[in-house]
Amino acid sequence: MTSKALDINALRAQFPILDQQVNGKPLVYLDNGATTQKPVAVLDALQNYYRGVNSNVHRGAHYLSDEATGQFEGARQTVADFLNASREEILWTKGTTESINIVAQCVAREQLQPGDEVLIATSEHHANIVPWQQACLAKGATLKVIPLHDDCSLDLDAFDQLLSEKTKIFAIGHASNALGTLNPVKEMVAKAKAVGSITLVDGAQAVAHFPVDVQDLGVDFYAFSGHKLFAPTGIGVLYGRRDLLEAMPPYQTGGEMIEVVTFEKSTWNQLPYKFEAGTPNIAGAIGLAAAINWLDNQDRAALEAHENALLARATEQAQAFGGLKIIGTAASKVSVLSFLLDGGHPADVGMLLDKQGVAVRTGHHCTMPLMDSLGIPGTVRASFSIYNTLDEVDRLFEALEKVKTFL
Ligand code: ALA
Repeated sequence: MTSKALDINALRAQFPILDQQVNGKPLVYLDNGATTQKPVAVLDALQNYYRGVNSNVHRGAHYLSDEATGQFEGARQTVADFLNASREEILWTKGTTESINIVAQCVAREQLQPGDEVLIATSEHHANIVPWQQACLAKGATLKVIPLHDDCSLDLDAFDQLLSEKTKIFAIGHASNALGTLNPVKEMVAKAKAVGSITLVDGAQAVAHFPVDVQDLGVDFYAFSGHKLFAPTGIGVLYGRRDLLEAMPPYQTGGEMIEVVTFEKSTWNQLPYKFEAGTPNIAGAIGLAAAINWLDNQDRAALEAHENALLARATEQAQAFGGLKIIGTAASKVSVLSFLLDGGHPADVGMLLDKQGVAVRTGHHCTMPLMDSLGIPGTVRASFSIYNTLDEVDRLFEALEKVKTFL
C-alpha cells in the first residue's frame, strides 16, 4: 500500500541498498534520522567525478582543475538555490556539528560577555548544546534552556519569559531528532531578533522532510548535513547572513582562505573562501548537489504527504499496541516515532528488531539532557523517509509483537 500520488516501487528502485536481506529477512530501514540512503543519481555523480574529473579546485592551470572547480562552485550555487540564499553565504563544512561549531567559535566566543545569555531548548542534540555550553563557560555567559510540555512540544510561554535583551544567541533545532517535534522556528526567530539576538537553526532533521527558505525564516545561520539528505557523509552546510560572515574572524587558517601571506601577517580571502581552509570535500559537495537536484526532480509535496501517511499509520498502530508508550506526541512532527516497550530495554528491543531485519536506532540519540528531563535512559526510534512503505510500518509492528513474546 502506498500514497496514491507516488510510485513507491519506482522510487525505491533508485535506492539499491534497500533491496537486500538482513538476518534472513527483507531489510526494513527505519534509521533515516541517523543517515539516509543514497539514490543512484548520487552514486553515479560520485563515480563520474572520481572517474572523469578528479582534480583540486581553484588552483590548477589545467582542464581537469577547471572542470572540478566548475562543478564544485556549481554545487554551491545549487545549495544556495535550495535554501534561497546567495552563493557567498554558503559555507561547506563536514556537517551540522562543524557548522554549529563555526558559529560557536567565531561568534559566541568572540562576542559573549559575562552576564550574556545563550538560549536553546531541552530537546537539542548534543551538537546544539555542547558548543554553546563551552563558549558560555569560557566567557562567563549563561546557557538558558526552554522547557517542554508533556507532549514534548516547546513551552512557548517559557520561551517568551526566557528571552530578554541578555539573549545574545538563540539556537534551536528545526525538528527534534529524538522526538520528531517540529518547532515553530520562524515565529521564535522573529522574537529573538526583536531583542537583538543572533539566531541559528539546526536543520539536520528538517531538510530531508520539507523545503526550507532561509529568507522566509529570517534566520541568521542555518546548518544541515548532506548525509541526512540522501548525499554522502562528510559534507555539510552552514548558511550565514553575509554581513555576519563578513564580520566574523576565520574558523581555521591555512591554504585557500588567505588573500596575501607574509611571515609577518596574512589577510583573508573573500566570502565564502575565508571559512574554507585547505582542500575541501569536492566529491562530497558534488554529491550533495546531485542529491538536491534529484530531490528537486521529485514531487516534494507528494513525498511530504507520503511521509505524513507513514507517521500517521505508525502512530495509529503504536497507540493500539499494548504496553507501548510513544515518547513525543506533539501535534506537529516530522516522521519520527520514538517509543518505549514495557519491560524491554531499548537496546534489547533494537537488537530483537534487527534479528527480524528491522533497523532502528536505540539509546539517548545524542540528547542526554532531554532523556534526563523525561526520566528515561533512552528510546527506540523508528525514523521514516520517503522510500519507506506503509507495509514496512506494518512489518515494524509485526516484529514488535514478536519482540513482546521474546521479552
Ligand atoms: N543525529 C543523528 C541521529 O539522530 C545521528 O541519529
